[in-house]
Amino acid sequence: MKIAVIGTGYVGLVTAAGLAEFGHTVIGTDKDAAKIDLISRGISPIYEPGLEDLLKKTLASGNLSFTADVDAAIRDAGVIFVCVGTPQDEEGRAEMSQIEGVARSIARNLNGYKVVVEKSTVPVKTSEWIKRVIGLYRRGDTPFDVASNPEFLREGSAVRDFLEPDRIIVGVETDRARDALVRIYEKFRERVLVTSIDTAELIKHASNSFLALKISYINMIADLCDRTDADVEQVALGMGLDPRIGRQFLKAGLGYGGSCFPKDIRALTKIGEDLGVDMGLLREADKVNHGRTGQFLDKVKKALWILKDKKIAVLGLAFKPETDDIREASSIRIIRELVKEGAALRIYDPKAMDNMKEIFPPSAQVAYCEGPYQAAQDANALLVVTEWEEFRALDLGRVRELMANPIIVDGRNMFDPVAVRGLGFEYYPVGRK
Ligand code: UGA
Repeated sequence: MKIAVIGTGYVGLVTAAGLAEFGHTVIGTDKDAAKIDLISRGISPIYEPGLEDLLKKTLASGNLSFTADVDAAIRDAGVIFVCVGTPQDEEGRAEMSQIEGVARSIARNLNGYKVVVEKSTVPVKTSEWIKRVIGLYRRGDTPFDVASNPEFLREGSAVRDFLEPDRIIVGVETDRARDALVRIYEKFRERVLVTSIDTAELIKHASNSFLALKISYINMIADLCDRTDADVEQVALGMGLDPRIGRQFLKAGLGYGGSCFPKDIRALTKIGEDLGVDMGLLREADKVNHGRTGQFLDKVKKALWILKDKKIAVLGLAFKPETDDIREASSIRIIRELVKEGAALRIYDPKAMDNMKEIFPPSAQVAYCEGPYQAAQDANALLVVTEWEEFRALDLGRVRELMANPIIVDGRNMFDPVAVRGLGFEYYPVGRK
């Protein structure tokens, strides 16, 4: 059975290449012809470790191909994975016009039974809408099924997450659709959980919101640690040793960013409230997250007092390491605020500088540097915003000599406070002394 993957964003690209790696015949499609041209030549438009290699390999094997002709791809396929974007609207709801557009294209090109699989993160009940739209616009009564197969990919390890999944959720309402999806994921039969479609849709939003909640929880505890003698790193370790809690996602810092958690927690809040459920718990988590950059900037001000004309090195722009993605990154709010205060910034990130230049073009106040040492040159303070491994390996003695004033405000607790202070730095971490 041929598979079409509609949308070549990071979910669609990884899905297309990953399914081809499993041995299926996959055709990826997107209405953006320039992007398709690039990808067809094995060039990934996004930075994602391992993705370009996998693309090249599966293109060469003949299992994977791409076309900008969305209609033809649909006609050719028996299973269609929908991987288009679901950005949020002003009220925090997922904006579903791209999904609706794809559903209409599928209806127009329904030339035989097809399974339409939602892979993008969508509100619960979306599949009912997809079903209705296809039913309304198709000619005749060609059969089709809808299904939900949410993705759990993390940026930075998306390829590995796809090729070695913890679980595969398959939400279906017919045996025919279940059999098609179970066959696609044959290799991982014992990791497949088959549910209803509503359940599958909710599992995705509920998982992301829970992880976001965990992060906001530890950040609230970090605030408490900041005002006491407790150390949040040790509190997290002590909590995480309880297997019921677990050690992951208890890293205090600048909070969660990216294209998923902030959007998903707001979307789930809206879904619940629209259905009359009190979603206050998630609202609070979002509020705690929003407060993180303010707290961080207070520390910068506490260290420097007046920011006007101060030279400030900013290390890290991406919303997390190993990606060039800056969507909802705390760095954006931090830079905006520092620029407003009149500081002169010396910025460095291993991958995300080009993206950031689109928001903050180089100027008298915003200089992009070639490396962390260049950023530290003559700086009055150095801020750590993203925890790239490269920064952990910095020669801090050299940094100390380059800087005008030895001040580090560390939003990610990258360094050992005793060692850093031993080198003569004033050091401001998160939730620890
Ligand atoms: C997240 C989920 O982890 C994936 O399972 C999901 O598929 C994806 O969203 C999605 O919905 O598409 P991702 O946004 O790539 O993946 O990144 P995470 O590694 O989950 O990190 C999210 C944010 O939380 C980052 O800003 C990170 O810095 C922050 N974080 C994470 C913390 O502040 N503390 C932690 O302990 C962990």
